[in-house]
Amino acid sequence: MELINQRWTLSRYPAGLPSEDDFRFETAAVPELADGEVLLAVRIVSLDPGQRFLIEEAAGMVPLGGVVPAWIVGEVIASRSPDYPIGTLARDVMAQGGVQRYSVVKATDLVPVRGDAPLSWYAGALGMSGQTAYFGLLDVGRPLAGETVLVSGATGAVGSIAAQIARIKGARVVGIARGTEKTQRLIDDFRLDAAIDASAENISSALQGICPGGVNLFFDTVGGEVLEAVLPHMVFKGRIASAGMIASYNRTVSLPGLRNYEIVFGRALRWEGVFVGGYVDRYAEATAQLEAWARSGELVFEEHVGVGLQAFPGMFKELFARRPIGKMLIRVDEAG
Ligand SMILES: NC(=O)c1ccc[n+]([C@@H]2O[C@H](COP(=O)([O-])OP(=O)(O)OC[C@H]3O[C@@H](n4cnc5c(N)ncnc54)[C@H](OP(=O)(O)O)[C@@H]3O)[C@@H](O)[C@H]2O)c1
Repeated sequence: MELINQRWTLSRYPAGLPSEDDFRFETAAVPELADGEVLLAVRIVSLDPGQRFLIEEAAGMVPLGGVVPAWIVGEVIASRSPDYPIGTLARDVMAQGGVQRYSVVKATDLVPVRGDAPLSWYAGALGMSGQTAYFGLLDVGRPLAGETVLVSGATGAVGSIAAQIARIKGARVVGIARGTEKTQRLIDDFRLDAAIDASAENISSALQGICPGGVNLFFDTVGGEVLEAVLPHMVFKGRIASAGMIASYNRTVSLPGLRNYEIVFGRALRWEGVFVGGYVDRYAEATAQLEAWARSGELVFEEHVGVGLQAFPGMFKELFARRPIGKMLIRVDEAG
């Protein structure tokens, strides 16, 4: 029986904040598999700021009419790879899964889901977001017990996990978020030591009071003005782990360059980017540790789940507005 796919494609490149007209909902036949490919019934679609980056015209990643890229979790329903027999649950690591019901993916772009945690976890806290936090914090940032760690976007899917890992490792952790509800939750739920409300406080003045001895490690997911405000508070030989720059993703004009860049060499900072795609070989290690922390209650997280592919354009827009705390996901159907 021929399978009919349902999918969201790109109808035009977004200018600024994504709008519903940038996407088109379509049906299409599911293509035949080539050697090394598998057909996945997509169960969970992860919503990530990185998708906005991938659908930028300048990125040259998605042609108009192409499926909107997304990291997904799915079940293998046909396979031409001995590594992924029918029935295997897998997540893709290259955003090739896409916002669609069925997805043909190269087996080499998948990692198997091994474990019995709720499937949504593998798209969020144990998925690409959790992996970025884990490796970005521990491999790039390398916090030491007693150090002061500052995290921007600290209630986001990546930031909230990174901040909690820093706390678990014995650091003093300060989070930056926007709004009193979010900053209160950073203290009450994520059990950080202090929080800065970027919508109400001057970040630099707040840091003077909260981190008088300076910041040893800044885990940054926002960039732009937040990064500029933090730089003067970095200690000599401090580290910056740059995981993202969400402040710039929907800008129609580029952000100005850093005006206080001299601090990077003046304080001998180590400033290193985080690229989660470089850690696929170690996903199993991070997954096991993140799951253990989550099951023990040391690591907490929230999910905002839409049901059905029709939820995509609205939720994708919400991702860049004053969004709720935690990971945004779509269950393709109720059973997902
Ligand atoms: N390097 C990698 O391999 C990798 C992998 C995954 C993600 N990332 C990046 O990591 C970052 C965070 O991803 P995520 O999945 O955690 O996203 P998320 O769940 O959407 O969280 C992002 C947080 O950033 C804040 N924010 C949103 N828009 C903002 C804006 N315009 N200016 C300032 N702050 C803004 C929001 O918090 P407030 O409203 O409280 O400010 C939000 O909680 C993104 O930049 C993403 O591209 C990188």
